[in-house]
Amino acid sequence: MSVSDARPVSPFAANGIRHDVRDIGASLIREVAHLGMGRENIVPLWFGEPDQPTPEFIRKAAIAALEAGDTFYQPNRGITPLRDALAVYGNRLYGTSLDRENITVTVSGLNALMIAMQSILRAGDRMVTTAPIWPNIVAIPQVLEAVVTTVPLRAGDNGWQLDIDEFIAACGPGTRAILINSPNNPTGWVMPAEDQKKLVEFATERGIWLIADEVYARLIYDGSDVAPSFVPYVSDDTRIMVINSFSKSWAMTGWRLGWITAPKGVGAELEKLMEFNVSCPAGFVQQAGIVALEQGEDFVASSRARYSLARAAIIERLRDMNRIQLPEADGAFYAFFRVDGVEDTLSFAKELLLSEGIGLAPGEAFGAEGAGHIRACYAVAEDRIHKAMDGLTRFLMR
Ligand SMILES: Cc1ncc(COP(=O)(O)O)c(C=O)c1O
Repeated sequence: MSVSDARPVSPFAANGIRHDVRDIGASLIREVAHLGMGRENIVPLWFGEPDQPTPEFIRKAAIAALEAGDTFYQPNRGITPLRDALAVYGNRLYGTSLDRENITVTVSGLNALMIAMQSILRAGDRMVTTAPIWPNIVAIPQVLEAVVTTVPLRAGDNGWQLDIDEFIAACGPGTRAILINSPNNPTGWVMPAEDQKKLVEFATERGIWLIADEVYARLIYDGSDVAPSFVPYVSDDTRIMVINSFSKSWAMTGWRLGWITAPKGVGAELEKLMEFNVSCPAGFVQQAGIVALEQGEDFVASSRARYSLARAAIIERLRDMNRIQLPEADGAFYAFFRVDGVEDTLSFAKELLLSEGIGLAPGEAFGAEGAGHIRACYAVAEDRIHKAMDGLTRFLMR
């Protein structure tokens, strides 16, 4: 054995940074977006955000709070009036009896995911989730040196489907957490209520934590006001944390405000992790959050109606293109479709951008299961959808 063979393999990269961190791939969505930013006449449907700014009544609440001097540190788990308002909001939607002790306000849904996973996952622990999936959901366990197993969502005659028995079978002895993102990014899949019940029973019996990412809860197009949720199952007898956010429902992506609904018994631990990660959400942002919850229902309903029209338009246009297969889905604000004959959708998305000015997200960004697919965010005005679809049609006919 040579001297160099005997040296232990370093967990650090040449620049001194942990391999687990260095090995996380850069966002493929941003790779496409960076190519297009600064160009004129681009129709960007790559990111997951509404094309409208936050409504004025919410913006004004933040301005008023700033004018009143709301510029100081705040409690780690959020200000009491916002925690109370979030409990009332949950109770109204789900008929639950949450109170502020169930609520931790966070600096975005993403921060909520980080806090939830930090509190549960250790190095080597396994988390089981579905795929294709929003890449950050898999990257956080990687930062924590945990291991992720994915179970595929499959596109069938009835749209995207999860075989719940296959999912449960994938949760072996080392499984510490399950993560369900429904309504789902990127597919739009919505987990049926009966599967949620089955999963809660399984996870509770096995002592596995269930993290439910419900940031798209209000974006459902089957006539309901809210998607089936894990919130009603949150109690000190179950191990469930539900992640939510102001980003998607109230067009507040840039504000960075979210929350966790969790058993009261874990609040003190979430409080510590909030302190170590971000200390607290900004006070004036939280004031805006209260107004969004108390006066924002009309906005939520009108946004849903607007996205519903855009959704109908994009479905119709994509179904008219004979090389496209679009499985049905009832939630979120994405069309996730396959283009016949195209496997490398990163190159496809770049060429489409450069030749037609249409910005879409490559399916590989959502894991190996996303390969061959393209994601388009339809939370935009209908004329933009038509412009994007005209460009895609021209591109496919070349
Ligand atoms: C599935 C999912 N979860 C969480 C988030 C985080 O949202 P935010 O951090 O803006 O609250 C996103 C954003 O795209 C998402 O798609």
